[in-house]
Amino acid sequence: MTARRLGTAPPADELDPAERMGVDELHALQLRRLQATLRHAYDNVALYRRTFDEAGIAPDDCRELADLARFPFTTKADLRQAYPFGMFAVPREQVRRIHASSGTTGRPTVVGYTQRDIDIWSEVMARSIRASGGRPGHRVHVAYGYGLFTGGLGAHYGAEKLGCTVVPVSGGMTPRQVQLITDFEPEIIMVTPSYMLTILDEFERQGIDPRSSSLRVGIFGAEPWTEQMRTEIEQRADIDAVDIYGLSEVMGPGVANECVETKDGLHVWEDHFYPEVIDPIDEHVLPDGEAGELVFTSLTKEALPIIRYRTRDLTRLSPGTGRPSMRRMEKVTGRSDDMIILRGVNLFPTQIEELVLRTPGMAPHFQLVLSSRERMDHLTVRVEARPDCPADRRDLAATELVTAVKDNVGVSIECVVEDPDTLERSVGKLVRLVDNRRK
Ligand code: DLL
Repeated sequence: MTARRLGTAPPADELDPAERMGVDELHALQLRRLQATLRHAYDNVALYRRTFDEAGIAPDDCRELADLARFPFTTKADLRQAYPFGMFAVPREQVRRIHASSGTTGRPTVVGYTQRDIDIWSEVMARSIRASGGRPGHRVHVAYGYGLFTGGLGAHYGAEKLGCTVVPVSGGMTPRQVQLITDFEPEIIMVTPSYMLTILDEFERQGIDPRSSSLRVGIFGAEPWTEQMRTEIEQRADIDAVDIYGLSEVMGPGVANECVETKDGLHVWEDHFYPEVIDPIDEHVLPDGEAGELVFTSLTKEALPIIRYRTRDLTRLSPGTGRPSMRRMEKVTGRSDDMIILRGVNLFPTQIEELVLRTPGMAPHFQLVLSSRERMDHLTVRVEARPDCPADRRDLAATELVTAVKDNVGVSIECVVEDPDTLERSVGKLVRLVDNRRK
């Protein structure tokens, strides 16, 4: 069954020069670029001038990569305060494109790109698609949303740059997604993992076995997903499922990507994005291998240089494998913002995902509902039964999940097993949590 997958490394001569660099050469390049970025940010963005001055540090104080740790952090709140264009480091006329976050929780964060920024973004996206198994000539079905969200256009430009044929479908209209995949026969799909599940369900609803489709690779990101979800998608679609990471403040998708031949974490494209992992509480830089909050500094961006941006994403760094000089980040399975503190116990939605997918009879569709009962927080996991789950297995499945959560996470929950097709489906980034506590 795996014969038709694309899971091989690209030939070395097809890699970008930076992907083949030795560590010393890479570090020298990073330092040069870092020094230039700090200077550019300080000279052209009021926020950086102020925060560097307040910290008593100047761009020239950066003499080695480790000196970056002396510079101040940048947060989402800083970007919001600069709304709309206060973070731009070039005259507005040189900004070729703008993207923005949805702004559901406050002012949107606005990011800008010069032509060179877009070219570099396309390059790292092309590199990401190639690492995932994509090659020139492949057809790429892009079901990430197009618009202010960076997913659609980021994937689109990267696939074009690699020499692929792009089908810019965007998200939504799921029956049509299935039709276009069937008719246009793409080898690659780029979509959030949760929307991929929706598409797979639609294949099955139409009576088509998704394993019979032309798809061979899925490049999934924009939201956390687990190894169990990888197995679920790979088996149901008979494809390689590869992880792509990025965020608009740093660029968009294509900051880091897995290599399909190893699927062992995401190589950070370190010639353009410098990663640090910090202790989120005391804010010190942690050595590679230790888990903490990921912090990024852009090394080549013109329109919006970003210095030590606190992503809130939790991960750890480890040495490169498929690209030996570039470090890998472990799959991001939680962000500090998504953490639920349930009666004193920290819980991430991905921990529930893992356990749901291990429970026979449970579908990968679930929702977390928080409520207050007698002044105590209470978590209900609503999860769908798989269509082939016998009715008398549901109660057993619910009990198994409750026990598994108690044993693995250490907290009591309630589980309600619903009929198949009851829960709302994702068409992009999935919202797992419904918080009814203050209602
Ligand atoms: O989600 C960019 C993107 C588009 C990445 C398409 C990959 C594919 P934002 O909307 O700014 O940008 O959201 C960024 O999404 O800080 C993470 O919390 C989360 N995220 C992105 N990729 C992954 C991933 C895009 N592979 C935020 N695993 C980030 C886990 C991810 N979380």
